[in-house]
Amino acid sequence: MSRNSDRYDPGPQIAQCGAVNLGVTDIEKSLFFFRDTLGMEEVERRGNVSYLRCYQELGHHSLVLTEQAEAVVNAYSFRVKRPQDVELFYEELKRQEIEVLELPAGAEAGRGAAIRFLLPGGDHPFELYYDIDKPRAPQHMRSRLPSNSSKRRGLGVRRIDHFNIQTSPSTINQAERWVRETLGFKRREFAYLPDHPETIMASWMSVTPQVHDLAIVANRLEKTAQMHHVAFNLQDFSDALTAADVLRDLDVSYGVGPGKHGVGQAMYLYIHDPGSDHRVEIYAGGYLIFDPDWEAIEWKPADFPEGLTWYGDPIDTTTGSRGRDTTGSAGLRR
Ligand SMILES: [Fe+2]
Repeated sequence: MSRNSDRYDPGPQIAQCGAVNLGVTDIEKSLFFFRDTLGMEEVERRGNVSYLRCYQELGHHSLVLTEQAEAVVNAYSFRVKRPQDVELFYEELKRQEIEVLELPAGAEAGRGAAIRFLLPGGDHPFELYYDIDKPRAPQHMRSRLPSNSSKRRGLGVRRIDHFNIQTSPSTINQAERWVRETLGFKRREFAYLPDHPETIMASWMSVTPQVHDLAIVANRLEKTAQMHHVAFNLQDFSDALTAADVLRDLDVSYGVGPGKHGVGQAMYLYIHDPGSDHRVEIYAGGYLIFDPDWEAIEWKPADFPEGLTWYGDPIDTTTGSRGRDTTGSAGLRR
């Protein structure tokens, strides 16, 4: 008797956020921030590129720091569920006449073959892959807990959590729908623009029980490819408070927080990578969704400020990661 999985093919699916590839202008400052302060492990260095992971990540990396002239985001990558899903997504993208670049294994160290394309309606560079090495940490960093790749250190970021990206109000509906219909994300919470009640202002979407693995927000400057932030997860609210205390005493540009979002109910703290000035969110807590017929929660304009900030400092969600006019995308070819 065959198993259900032998008879039913769900098609290609996204499993999780994989990694962000950040262009940085000063890699030593970025390493001070991500490795020495947040506590990530530098798994590999290849010339001007550094690969890092958090202490509960077994895969090769969730952050790539590429030292380059401009601090733009080189790629947001997602891991797919099965090896064949890379090819199946490739075929679907071609069917939709979306330009796709095939990246060979090793284009990012430790990673198998990938495909790269620009998000329709957003121009953000997305990459999809399945194969990723799972190297053991050096002996002196190794944890005795087999579910940890290394010992907890620094501020204890344990995994990449989500991407928050922006696109123009004139294309955000297209981008948000495409992410749901082609990549299979589910809309969990959302809001429409107050003055354009059929245009998405913000949508929080996920392929996991998290409220969001990816958020798309309307950029008030009409920019199509801005990052707002990339988030890394801490275990507890108290860890976020400790992070705030430590970071205030360092030469790190402080954003806002700690506070708690109404959307997703997690604690936030926004800070800036000193090597790129990109906004990074420290994120802890939040509710999970197991309901298979979850109905997306709509935030009405009057309530939306509480959605962003249940308590704590207000957040500017409408401008790019570096708080000014920045290029968010390096384009399809890099
Ligand atoms: Fe976030």
